[in-house]
Amino acid sequence: MNRYYKTYNHYLNHFDPFYNPSEHIRKGSRKQRSEQMMLNRDYTINPPFARNVDRFRMPDKGMLPETAYKKVHNEIALDGNVHLNLATFVTTWMEQTADCLYAESVNKNLIDKDAYPQTAAIEERCIRMLANLWHSPHPNSTMGVSTTGSSEASMLGGLALKRRWQNARKKAGKPIDRPNIVFSSAVQVVWKKFANYWDIEPRYVNISPDCLYLDPEGVLASVDENTIGVIPTLGVTYTGLYEPVAEIAKALDELQSRTGLDIPIHVDAASGGFIAPFLHPDVVWDFQLARVKSINVSGHKYGLVYPGLAWIIWREAEDLPEDLIFRVSYLGGNMPTFALSFSRPSSQVLLQYYNFLRLGKEGYYEVHKASQEVAHFISKVIYDMGPFELFTDGSDLPVFSWRLKEGYTSKWNLYDLSRQMRTFGWQVPAYPLPPDMENITIMRVVVRNGFSMDLAHLFLMNLIEAVSFLDSLNRQIPHDTKYDIAFHH
Ligand SMILES: Cc1ncc(COP(=O)(O)O)c(C=O)c1O
Repeated sequence: MNRYYKTYNHYLNHFDPFYNPSEHIRKGSRKQRSEQMMLNRDYTINPPFARNVDRFRMPDKGMLPETAYKKVHNEIALDGNVHLNLATFVTTWMEQTADCLYAESVNKNLIDKDAYPQTAAIEERCIRMLANLWHSPHPNSTMGVSTTGSSEASMLGGLALKRRWQNARKKAGKPIDRPNIVFSSAVQVVWKKFANYWDIEPRYVNISPDCLYLDPEGVLASVDENTIGVIPTLGVTYTGLYEPVAEIAKALDELQSRTGLDIPIHVDAASGGFIAPFLHPDVVWDFQLARVKSINVSGHKYGLVYPGLAWIIWREAEDLPEDLIFRVSYLGGNMPTFALSFSRPSSQVLLQYYNFLRLGKEGYYEVHKASQEVAHFISKVIYDMGPFELFTDGSDLPVFSWRLKEGYTSKWNLYDLSRQMRTFGWQVPAYPLPPDMENITIMRVVVRNGFSMDLAHLFLMNLIEAVSFLDSLNRQIPHDTKYDIAFHH
């Protein structure tokens, strides 16, 4: 702890929320003093929200709703501005009509299917629409569920792979004690968690400067009879690149014809599942490939819904092992479910359906195309500026990334640039690439609905100002790497 924190801690430990510097003689108990103080306070001059509260103990008495609101409202003003947050993939803007729908449905618990049968029916329709969009051979009968995010959806996809593998091994009289799962070193952290939480050996295929994504050769070198599945990412979190699902599927098809090993694929399409069908209809990555057994997507990313929603769909009902399914009674009938969470607000699911109706395929295309144009425009200017080299330009996901050209300067680095951009309000993360490429630091911008071309111009003006400022320094900015690596995937 440095000396500044020590000084502050002293005050924290001796903090009396009701301390009144004008009280020379402190009489009575703390409670009596506070009550006296409340009585003495002239609220016409000192607004109630300026009243002190103990931040770490629940107050004995409450306060007016407006006061409580103002307290919270004022405090979160210290957060970053969501519209200038270029680090997040998650939706930060929806139309006013969507906001109305959100407010009117946030008090409905999605799990109460009996009480809210129409909400349940709408959730079911979204599942059918996604199964259709991703070319399930049986879109009207296959299994799918909504979840709180792609992390939960990925866990479900992984669990289904594990159970499927266990069931097949048990049937063949083979051991089930050493399952493994294969993905690239650029995988999102949820898959590392999945492997850890469910005792599965993670096998990483490291990315390299020549191959920035999950390489089919590397997959073949990593799989064996204990592999529960291979997880390509459609839209790698670090760079926005699509991993080559069709090539990986082909390599695994060939492996099966050679050895009989049948290894399924789950596609983590957290971001790309809502981009590829509209911007890249020719890329084959979904259930058109028979080896792809399940796909997850975040409704709250390029599905354009506020935080708290993802989906997972299985290719066919049989791809979700029956023994993982729970049946909830609903409308006198029976509804199969598979989830880790129970109670959740309905709003996000309803907003997903709202977007499907409001935008249609054409609307999704228009929205994402506009984001891609912004990504291409900014990345082109960044490339032309001189100090930078592009890593990706937004051609897959509308996400681009760049690095500082080797040897350009020793005075500053991308972490300094990130901090400098923060002074304008922009949040642009800088971070190292995963193992084997961790000596390369990149910066990334996620372009989302609402990041318009006029904001793009303002962003570029600020970026140019920030780089000019850093260039103008006459000596190196001292570095402590512990402050540099602040962004997590
Ligand atoms: C590829 C990928 N998978 C999974 C996740 C986790 O998604 P969520 O934040 O919806 O839980 C992310 C989030 O960025 C991601 O990019």
